[in-house]
Amino acid sequence: MKILVTGGAGYIGSHTVLALIEAGHEPIVVDNFCNSSEKSLKAVSRLAGKDVPCYRVDIRDREGLEKVFAEHTFDACIHFAGLKCVPESTRLPLKYYENNLAGSLTLFGVMAEHHCKNIIFSSSATVYGDPAIIPITEACPKGVTTNAYGETKSMLERILTDIQKADPEWNVVLLRYFNPIGAHRSGEIGEQPNGIPNNLMPYVTQVAVGKRECLSVYGNDYDTHDGTGVRDYIHVCDLADGHVKALSAIQKGCGTVVYNLGTGTGYSVLDVVKAFEKATGVSVPYAVRERRAGDIATCYSDPTKAERELGWKAKYNLEDMCRDAWRWQKNHPNGFDD
Ligand code: NAD
Ligand code: UFG
Repeated sequence: MKILVTGGAGYIGSHTVLALIEAGHEPIVVDNFCNSSEKSLKAVSRLAGKDVPCYRVDIRDREGLEKVFAEHTFDACIHFAGLKCVPESTRLPLKYYENNLAGSLTLFGVMAEHHCKNIIFSSSATVYGDPAIIPITEACPKGVTTNAYGETKSMLERILTDIQKADPEWNVVLLRYFNPIGAHRSGEIGEQPNGIPNNLMPYVTQVAVGKRECLSVYGNDYDTHDGTGVRDYIHVCDLADGHVKALSAIQKGCGTVVYNLGTGTGYSVLDVVKAFEKATGVSVPYAVRERRAGDIATCYSDPTKAERELGWKAKYNLEDMCRDAWRWQKNHPNGFDD
């Protein structure tokens, strides 16, 4: 299939573009590079042995998108483009609503105009809020989001659902990611956070490589097996494969459908530190600090719907994720700049 990949130069996008090429699809990337580098796509091209066509276009730019659609007939769109930093979204909500909502609305309008009505959307476990059921199934009611970023995900899910209800020619796959970490096994593509990382794994790898002194563990008094927060970490390559498998739902004509993409296993912050040290032999000094505002104790998926309906199941374990995250960090201490 010929697939428009918005945000395809980013962390999850670049791994997915590679997986799409390996599965025989033809991805075309649109990205404004506000949180990525053209170098990620160069690395993908080298790994795939094939050029990745890419347009430097902002999804809020209708004319720019029109030009891309005038040059290609797309079978589907995988929509990654968006801003994703939770604390920044609390400081700058307008920036998030403008980029993520206005950008997506422009994209959906241009897609409809060009009769491209198949979309896979990057949603997040954040839409469950403090989850009513653990492990979280797709039937778990959506919760109250605690930040503007999470609200854009929840609203875009609703917007796409409404669009599909009004026009059943649309097929909408809402993928709720749990916590993507790790990198491609080559160590040539991976996550490049700007400034101080907010998320656990990039902070761990930066401590391990000597860029930061000590990991702050945000709270050890949660109601979990060791008191630290529990999450469902998923290897980014498994996540990428989930997108390739989700295309089969679109091909069958799925209407609107939601899938959790997680492993189904929850690990605490200290489990991650231990697994990282075991997988890499590098120690990670840490200190316990106050809880971080907005964090919940436990969040992990029941991923069986994706296995049953898409034939998708995560293959990599936590040690694989740590080993691959470390290889990327070690090979590229400054991301794509070295
Ligand atoms: P990322 O920042 O690495 O990738 C996003 C890409 O979108 C970047 O290349 C960025 O330059 C581009 N982009 C942003 N705004 C744009 C715009 N207006 N026009 C064109 N391009 C634009 O992030 P990621 O981790 O790869 O996440 C991809 C998607 O998955 C995002 O929508 C994110 O919200 C969602 N998601 C991520 C996580 C996570 O933990 N990484 C979890 C759940 C959901
Ligand atoms: N944590 C630390 N120290 C750190 C960073 C994180 O102890 O320096 C802890 C957190 O308190 C939490 C766990 O590690 O218990 C995971 O935190 P992350 O920031 O890595 O991930 P979150 O679960 O908070 O959020 C992530 C993404 C969201 C997404 C959500 C669900 O950042 O965008 O997963 O997919 F919505």
